Amino acid sequence: MTLSRDEALGRVYHARTRDDLREGYDGWASDYDADMDRRGYKLPGLVTTLVARHVALGDGPILDAGAGTGLLGEWLQLAGYRDLTAIDLSQGMLDIARTREVYDHLVCAAIGDSLDHADGHFRVVASAGAFGVHHAPASGLEELVRITQPGGHLVITVRGIGMEDGGFPQEIKRLEDTGRWRKLEEHGPFFAFRNEADSLYMAWVFEKTA
Ligand SMILES: C[S@@+](CC[C@H](N)C(=O)[O-])C[C@H]1O[C@@H](n2cnc3c(N)ncnc32)[C@H](O)[C@@H]1O
Repeated sequence: MTLSRDEALGRVYHARTRDDLREGYDGWASDYDADMDRRGYKLPGLVTTLVARHVALGDGPILDAGAGTGLLGEWLQLAGYRDLTAIDLSQGMLDIARTREVYDHLVCAAIGDSLDHADGHFRVVASAGAFGVHHAPASGLEELVRITQPGGHLVITVRGIGMEDGGFPQEIKRLEDTGRWRKLEEHGPFFAFRNEADSLYMAWVFEKTA
């Protein structure tokens, strides 16, 4: 089922349940890239820049968490990074991501649930546009920290609207206070879409400490 742009946006930004969200993205997948291009979407470029500031090219798997159609994976691959894994809730989005041929592994799974990867599996976890209220939850951050290697990096964005209600600042601080990660950079709030004035986001770079 393909949704109109307005139906898709309404569905994904106001999803009440995970199934709503998944169906919204499944229905939007074929038009997503063109719509994001039209909106002037900046997060994959920003997240790639932040990864490149902290992470050398080289060995070790990189996770794109909430990869969608693979816009971030394409940027990372262009910048020279390899061994990319995509995780996303929506198989429809992952089907498009597969056609980019930049990921070694594509996994349909929900951030917020237990993930199958071993402790410390990834040297980098990067995520563009996936976290926020009605999207990937703050409770999913700890599991991403678990699967990052000590000394590895997490580059995360969170949508501004509802950030406090979604518990993001609180969870970020808890993970700092309990010594799970150390904040290296914080950016925002900034506009993530060139052509929209109401889409504030924050971005962080963390180092996993233990
Ligand atoms: C705005 S899109 C961003 C996709 C891609 N990272 C990009 O920058 O174009 C948000 C993506 O996060 C995924 N997502 C939302 N909640 C999720 C969750 N709990 N677990 C996994 N993926 C999730 C959606 O399915 C969607 O593909």
